[in-house]
Amino acid sequence: MSASVLSISNLTVKFGGLTALDDVFLDVPENSIVGLIGPNGAGKTTIFNSISGLVTPTSGLISVEGKNVPWPASHQLVDYKISRTLQGVGLFSGLTVLENVMMGADVLGTSNFFKDALGLSSKSESKLRDRAHEALAWAGALDVAEKMPGALTYPETKRVSIARALVARPKILLLDEPAAGLGQDDIDKFAGLLKELKRKCSIVIVEHHVDFIGSISDKVYVLNFGKVIASGTFDQVKRDPAVLAAYLGTTHA
Ligand SMILES: Nc1ncnc2c1ncn2[C@@H]1O[C@H](COP(=O)(O)OP(=O)(O)O)[C@@H](O)[C@H]1O
Ligand SMILES: [Mg+2]
Repeated sequence: MSASVLSISNLTVKFGGLTALDDVFLDVPENSIVGLIGPNGAGKTTIFNSISGLVTPTSGLISVEGKNVPWPASHQLVDYKISRTLQGVGLFSGLTVLENVMMGADVLGTSNFFKDALGLSSKSESKLRDRAHEALAWAGALDVAEKMPGALTYPETKRVSIARALVARPKILLLDEPAAGLGQDDIDKFAGLLKELKRKCSIVIVEHHVDFIGSISDKVYVLNFGKVIASGTFDQVKRDPAVLAAYLGTTHA
């Protein structure tokens, strides 16, 4: 058993009268891919929002690398070594891909690293540039570093947003529906990329493509109506009656 980099217990989130998450637990081992699946509205994104400081949990505990810590504010994510891709936040069209990735060092906060770089000591800037190249290489997008965002294909854009999340060298990468809109060929390539990437960090991934999640995840959590209804290997959870009922339930809804 490898050590856990991120662990959550008893996470409850209420929005007024709505209980979005109810006593949720999650454990993310080092260098693993953990998949979160469940019908729309099950609470998957709310887990990410709680971890990344966008939602304040009603109750619950979080530990990072085995240490109990306060729920992070979004500007603390860099210190917690947590990074997420920002859905809906596009790339800056007037900057090259490389410059966009450099911006990612600070997209959710104010790391000293980035402040240094903005102070434009040329040493820091070249350090940040090196990091951005490294992140692009990890995301399989080094070949588009000098392109403008408008010239990228859709799958390339996805890789670049992952590079932007990687530039801070996170230990934990949160990906919310990163494969949405990709065709099967690109999904297969993306699966290969994630399997490589887990050597560098742990990945928590939300996706609707259940087979894709099954093919890449070391562990899967299934949510329904804010509760974890099953967890384990994909082979274990896919046979679970509660899981089958949840999915059949939505299919016929
Ligand atoms: N900021 C919010 N304010 C009020 N309700 C919210 C908010 N965010 C999510 N919800 C509600 O919480 C539930 C879980 O949503 P979400 O986590 O986005 O589900 P999923 O990502 O699994 O589709 C839904 O009923 C959603 O409408
Ligand atoms: Mg969601």
